[in-house]
Amino acid sequence: MSSPSPALATRLEAARAVVHDAAQMAMAMRPPPGGPQASQKSAQDWLTETDGAVEAFIANRMKALFPDDGFQGEEGGVARTGSLRWVVDPIDGTSNYARGRCRWCISLGLLDGDEPVAGVIDAPALGEVYTALRGYGAFLNGKRIQASPVKDPACSMIEMGWSNRVPKPVFMEKMDAIMALGTMPRSGGCGALALADVASGRLDGYIEIVINLWDVAAALPLLAEAGARVSPFLQEGGLTGPATIMAANPHIAQVLSKAVSIPLA
Ligand code: IPD
Repeated sequence: MSSPSPALATRLEAARAVVHDAAQMAMAMRPPPGGPQASQKSAQDWLTETDGAVEAFIANRMKALFPDDGFQGEEGGVARTGSLRWVVDPIDGTSNYARGRCRWCISLGLLDGDEPVAGVIDAPALGEVYTALRGYGAFLNGKRIQASPVKDPACSMIEMGWSNRVPKPVFMEKMDAIMALGTMPRSGGCGALALADVASGRLDGYIEIVINLWDVAAALPLLAEAGARVSPFLQEGGLTGPATIMAANPHIAQVLSKAVSIPLA
């Protein structure tokens, strides 16, 4: 196997170190267990002080390291443009973070034009770091991961992401369709970690009807490297606005796609 391009390998290493420091900051600011310590952007869409602090920290560090790279954050929007573009979700799973739960992460992805090329997802309360570089594998805490071998939907576990952006009847219709296959449903409140779970084989599929680039940018190269199938999120508007994502292990992807009427790429 050839070596990765030095430009991308350097960036992945730098991203891992910066996200690690940001994760320590988020741990230090983490609310204790209890009711949410956060404000609401809209119904059940939470924002903590940490979201802003972590995004500013990562934006500044990446600007100092790679001043010509573009940068886009969940909270601050597109700060800089560039053919290489970092996309950060400072705290994905804010609703969990705000209540002292463990299922949240910092997600930093790198796009080359419209191609996802690298990603780091750091979940410090779980002690887990996912990394991927396009063409060079997907890893969880340094060990290679791959999508699950489950073929029978009746033995599968599928997660559906929920947000107030999806009308209840639409969510229920898709949930009904996956449960009709005999799957075991989940909904864990952190899209990036759910997609990482598909990449590592902990889930067989993840569906979210309306999700944003910052939730998925780091997970896309992980999924590709882990052999998962994914719907055409970027091609269907995900680069510039919200879109649907479905990711699944390659054995049940087609059955799932048909059941929920979401095409695969
Ligand atoms: C949210 C989480 C949630 C998903 C939502 C996202 P946030 O991100 O990933 O699981 O269902 O669509 O908005 O607000 O915690 O960064």
